[in-house]
Amino acid sequence: MIPVITIDGPSASGKGTVAQRVAQQLGFHYLDSGALYRLTALAAVRQGLAAAGEETLGQLAAQLPVEFSGNDIYLAGDMVTEAIRTEDCGRLASKLSAFPAVRTALLERQRNFLRPPGLVADGRDMGSVVFPQALLKVFLTATPEVRAQRRFNQLISKGVDVIMDDVVRDLRNRDERDRTRAVAPLDPTGALILDTSALSIDQAMVQILAWYSVNA
Ligand code: C5P
Repeated sequence: MIPVITIDGPSASGKGTVAQRVAQQLGFHYLDSGALYRLTALAAVRQGLAAAGEETLGQLAAQLPVEFSGNDIYLAGDMVTEAIRTEDCGRLASKLSAFPAVRTALLERQRNFLRPPGLVADGRDMGSVVFPQALLKVFLTATPEVRAQRRFNQLISKGVDVIMDDVVRDLRNRDERDRTRAVAPLDPTGALILDTSALSIDQAMVQILAWYSVNA
């Protein structure tokens, strides 16, 4: 069986960066599942379907013309690596990710990332739904204050004009939606919990590699 490590957790918990570093260390492939939800959101906006219903958005997700090439992501041939990272895109991704039809449409696409020698997948339901067979399931988290500060720093470093209160409110809304939705809610059950509030990226990576070496 091809080994999988899943790293789930709330927004701005650092899971993307940590997951990429773990994948690099092990020479594994990497899946940023949130990018697929963000791509669906961006495609919806570009086609004037942002307010469309579940069925339409499910079809859009199923037919998404996306390509991952190294660190770059293309939507219908257009490079959207940065465009999908906006707060607006994240907010819409969070809304449409509550639709079961959208989640089902993206399921196979996510599983197709599983190739030898192994995969590190990050998201909200990687361990619970997409890769239940994973050798190691990690739930990465941090206090709301630390996560808000991280997100704030990230946005400021990209030159985005934001105020802390908006970042805190946005994170809280997104967490609440991801935790309480009926399908594939964010849930740490069955995963090893790693609180990164006081950890560096390297320290988080070392812990995950240590857990993996025990399970592998
Ligand atoms: O992780 P990221 O912030 O890029 O994800 C964007 C949104 O996509 C999340 O707020 C979440 O609602 C949704 N998502 C999801 N399941 C995943 C990954 C992301 O529902 N596996």
